[in-house]
Amino acid sequence: MSKILVTGGTGYIGSHTVVELHNAGYEVVIVDDLSNSSIKILDQIESIIGIKPEFHQFDLCDIQKVNDFAAKHTDITGIIHFAAFKAVGESVEKPLKYYRNNFFSLINLLEVFNKNIDFVFSSSCTVYGQPDSLPVTEAEKVKPAESPYGNTKQIAEEILVETAAVTPALNIVALRYFNPVGAHKSALIGELPNGVPANLVPFITQSAIGKRGPIMVHGNDYSTPDGSAIRDYIHVVDLAKAHVAAIKRLEEKKSASNYEVFNIGTGKGSSVLEIINAFESSTGEKLNYQIGPRRGGDIEKIYGDVSKAKELLGWQTELDLNEMMRSAWEWEKYIKANPF
Ligand code: NAD
Ligand code: WQD
Repeated sequence: MSKILVTGGTGYIGSHTVVELHNAGYEVVIVDDLSNSSIKILDQIESIIGIKPEFHQFDLCDIQKVNDFAAKHTDITGIIHFAAFKAVGESVEKPLKYYRNNFFSLINLLEVFNKNIDFVFSSSCTVYGQPDSLPVTEAEKVKPAESPYGNTKQIAEEILVETAAVTPALNIVALRYFNPVGAHKSALIGELPNGVPANLVPFITQSAIGKRGPIMVHGNDYSTPDGSAIRDYIHVVDLAKAHVAAIKRLEEKKSASNYEVFNIGTGKGSSVLEIINAFESSTGEKLNYQIGPRRGGDIEKIYGDVSKAKELLGWQTELDLNEMMRSAWEWEKYIKANPF
């Protein structure tokens, strides 16, 4: 059984990936400093998979701790590196916090685990900005970042390309996620936003449960069929499974190159108003919303060409918008009844 280190494994995408790795027969070790997650997630994972994964709480920016951990875990064959700060708005306020955390953690891992390691990195469709053509392919040029957060993903990809070029023993896949939403079907794990959610779906579920006021639709004057902005929303469980597929590809050493990048989305775009409708129809809950001005820095529309992932990872999404909305709502109700 291969042993995979999941950094940020108590976070939103990490916790779902831990479950899917276990389901696929992998042994998992989690490292997380709990800066944006709760220790209770370990019990939730145990309720789903029947065992509590091995867990170590420390900051990956601490090189000594990473060295000590690596010395005691020489059987790790792969790393899925989720740990990072991700709040776009906060990154504009506190750029150094983001550059320090997102770069130091990555560099420490690459320096310490530099031999025969499969490495999957959490990148983002944010690297494309507003693409020149849609659906956007991995060959599209990367645009100047709109935020320090986005910049950390772009530069991290460059760090990985340059490191892979001189480290043949390192096998890297970067996954560019589109917009992950939803929760595990058990409703035992899901997204735990910090404060007022900036992201659409957590705001919708919090508004529906009465924790927030009406949803503000950020602009209805875009050049889209209903005027609201378009994104490629992907169920977090499908996204988690893409990581398992990436690890398998790296293990099978199928690629001629030791650095590859894949878009991970559904390939379909949905507008803000379509998401509101999908939530209402899949949950039976009525939403209150208002049309407001465009949000600064937002792009008009993006959705991915995901044919490369389909062909080379043998992966594709299985869960639709209804399941994304239904599971997000079940999770919101669960955390109301069982506060974290
Ligand atoms: P999250 O905040 O829920 O999870 C990240 C986890 O990493 C948290 O549990 C946090 O405590 C931990 N962490 C952060 N810095 C750490 C450090 N220095 N040492 C140890 N642990 C640390 O975020 P998420 O939504 O699960 O995102 C996971 C990854 O995917 C991030 O790299 C993020 O940038 C990327 N990503 C997320 C989205 C999204 O919309 N959620 C989209 C594209 C890419
Ligand atoms: C989606 C759409 C909003 C809230 C962000 C990051 C990106 C990536 C994913 C990590 C947009 C609209 C939102 C609301 C609204 N993360 N909206 N009312 O902006 O595509 O991407 O998360 O890499 O880097 O920037 O996602 O969920 O914030 O917004 O109308 O209350 O919903 O304007 O059109 P976004 P989002």
